[in-house]
Amino acid sequence: MSTVRRVGVLTGGGDAPGLNAVIRAVVRACKVAYGVTVVGISEGFTGLVEMRARELDLDDISGLLVRGGTILGTTNRGNPFRYAYRRPDGVEELVDASGTAKKNVEKLGLDCLIVIGGDGSLSIGERFWRELGIPVVGVPKTIDNDLSATDYTFGFATAVQSATWALDCLHTTAESHHRVMLLEVMGRDAGWIALHAGLAGGGDVVLIPEIPFRFEPLIAKFQARERRGRPFSLVVVAEGAAPAGGSQVFAGQDAITGWKRLGGISASIAQEIEARGGYEVRATVLGHIQRGGTPVPNDRILASRFGIEAARLAVEGSFGSMVALRGDEIVAVPLADAIGRLKKVDPQCQLMKAARAIGIVFGDENPEDASDSEG
Ligand code: F6P
Repeated sequence: MSTVRRVGVLTGGGDAPGLNAVIRAVVRACKVAYGVTVVGISEGFTGLVEMRARELDLDDISGLLVRGGTILGTTNRGNPFRYAYRRPDGVEELVDASGTAKKNVEKLGLDCLIVIGGDGSLSIGERFWRELGIPVVGVPKTIDNDLSATDYTFGFATAVQSATWALDCLHTTAESHHRVMLLEVMGRDAGWIALHAGLAGGGDVVLIPEIPFRFEPLIAKFQARERRGRPFSLVVVAEGAAPAGGSQVFAGQDAITGWKRLGGISASIAQEIEARGGYEVRATVLGHIQRGGTPVPNDRILASRFGIEAARLAVEGSFGSMVALRGDEIVAVPLADAIGRLKKVDPQCQLMKAARAIGIVFGDENPEDASDSEG
């Protein structure tokens, strides 16, 4: 007989389509299957430090499956171990507020906290469990699909869908104007979104962080396409990609946490392609469109399965664990094994070989091979 009567749930870090589906599944499973109360914490860990929480009922989750974002709110800030506290004089300083968070877990009467987040939020959850003894169950979330302990994260399929839609749009206008069109997609230091969207949307060139690229193979590919009567090309650029010997481009930095936000590399790539090849080039940065909107069915299903299993682990008392997808099974893995190691694209993996086999150029080829890739 479980002693768990009240379960807290929070969403941390950047949002991802499917977060609401997890919340819905957690509430349904807890209330209907186990008769356990669910408390929703607002704005990630911030709500725990500042005591912003409310009980979630079945009415609160009605219609949530199709809604992007998170009804709980989320933030990239709010790490209780390095909490940005605003002093009365308006100056922000970093303080350790983890003790306050722990007290608030007790005040709220939580027997377990379900943390839905990416590597950053799950790392905080792991410290809550290991250092503070707060019972935690993790649910992996990120559109980047870069968490090593799970085959896929929800939100990724929706992001790929949006990026593929954008490529389909760029395709027709590229063809009309005989242009080279660049699409910059998210993914941080992993090229998963770029690779999948490039495959699904007919990208001619895909630039990913795992492969430093040179311009010569790109130009060779465009020229080969011209010779074949295709005087236009599509280039998918992961935001974390960088030329060989060059560096990544950042769009900004958080003043308090120091976290650096990638973005903007496609503008300089476009200039260089224009200068080297004489092409007319346009760059589109897809941005947060990839993070919003209605989750695709695969993400709704994965998010629901994660939520159901997280509720079961919480009620069973399997703390310090995280749900993960392995093959077609949802399994529990130790939180400690799930954090700190990013899953990157292996340049030798089967998917990469398939991409190269159908002619996609990654920028590390000999120019002759890039030419040949047009068949
Ligand atoms: O990790 C998800 C992600 O969307 C990355 O792909 C991107 O680099 C980053 O978050 C953007 O963060 P923000 O929403 O703070 O601009």
